[in-house]
This record gives sequence, structure tokens and C-alpha cells, in this order.
Amino acid sequence: MPPLHFQTFNSDKVFIDNNMETTLVLLKPSCVQRQLIGEIVHRFERRGLRIAGMKMMQLDEAILREHYAHLVDRPFFPALAASMMASPIVAMAISGVEAVSVVRAMTGYTNGRVADPGTIRGDYSMSNQQNIVHASDSIENAAIELARFFRPEEIFEYESATLGFIYATNER
Ligand code: TYD
Repeated sequence: MPPLHFQTFNSDKVFIDNNMETTLVLLKPSCVQRQLIGEIVHRFERRGLRIAGMKMMQLDEAILREHYAHLVDRPFFPALAASMMASPIVAMAISGVEAVSVVRAMTGYTNGRVADPGTIRGDYSMSNQQNIVHASDSIENAAIELARFFRPEEIFEYESATLGFIYATNER
């Protein structure tokens, strides 16, 4: 994505924004089936993150072999793929300053049983696989994963009305 441009409420100074990142989140079938979509989306909104894209999709084996390429040879891959195809998922593009690491921290450790309380997995999951969300683990992977799940026109650049009260002007 090209850099976003925001005009601050402070006189006529215009900041060219370079600190914003966009990351990919998947609300997995364990989230959709347990009717937690609203609660999880609410957490990201409450944090001050901006929803830049959001859609429901049915995943297939081809996209999962690509998305979990680092795991295709692991014995649990067939069960993982089945769990990710068990119902539609919700794909989200989430933007904010350092959004990749912020969202990853909100997600928590892979295994919900050891994830810290206060994280999404630590609050909603008891499983190493049925763990509610996927979140990109690096800026590089976020770009690759966003392109895998979204067409460019499905990710929206718009100015959040509350931006000036979420960040100090020198943070964004
Ligand atoms: P991984 O990329 O290691 O973790 P994370 O989702 O925290 O980035 O694994 C991807 C998914 O694979 C994980 O969310 C659930 C599944 N998985 C298993 O089913 N069993 C396992 O032992 C591991 C490590 C992962």
C-alpha cells in the first residue's frame, strides 16, 4: 500500500504517514462457529486499530497449503487444513501504528491453554489448533498474506475520525 496521508487537527501541518502498518487477521472456523466474530472484532476496534478490509470466505486446500507452507510436512497438517475448512472464515485487514506486532501480541501464544489471559487465545481458546485467530507474524509476511486473501481494491484507505485521539501527532 502507498503511504497514507493524514491532516492533523493542529493548524495547517500535514504529516506524511510512514508508521502505519496493515496486517492480516483470519477469524478461524473456531471463532465463526462459536459466534465470537463480534467479540473479537470489538477487541481490535477498542484497541484503536482501524479495520481496512473484512470479508467472509470459504478456504480450500490450495490456499491453505500456501498459507501454511511452513507446516505442510507436519503430521498435524491434514487436521489443521480440515479445521480451517470446517466453515467459512472472516479475513480482516487491520491497520495502525506497528499494527503487526500489536495484533500479534493481542493474539497470544499458539496454544490457547498456555496463552496469557488477556490475549485472544488466552481468553477464548483451550486448544493448540482451534485457536480462534490467525495473525501475521512479521511485516514481510503481512504483505504476502494480505495479497493472498485480498484484492487491492478490497483494502480501504480512509481516515479514522478518532485518529487524533488515538495517537500523538509524532507517533503516526
Ligand atoms: P504456527 O504458525 O506455528 O502458529 P501461529 O498460528 O501462532 O502463528 O501454526 C499455525 C497454526 O497451525 C496454528 O495456529 C494452529 C496449527 N498448529 C497445530 O494444529 N498444531 C501444532 O502443534 C502447531 C504448532 C500449530
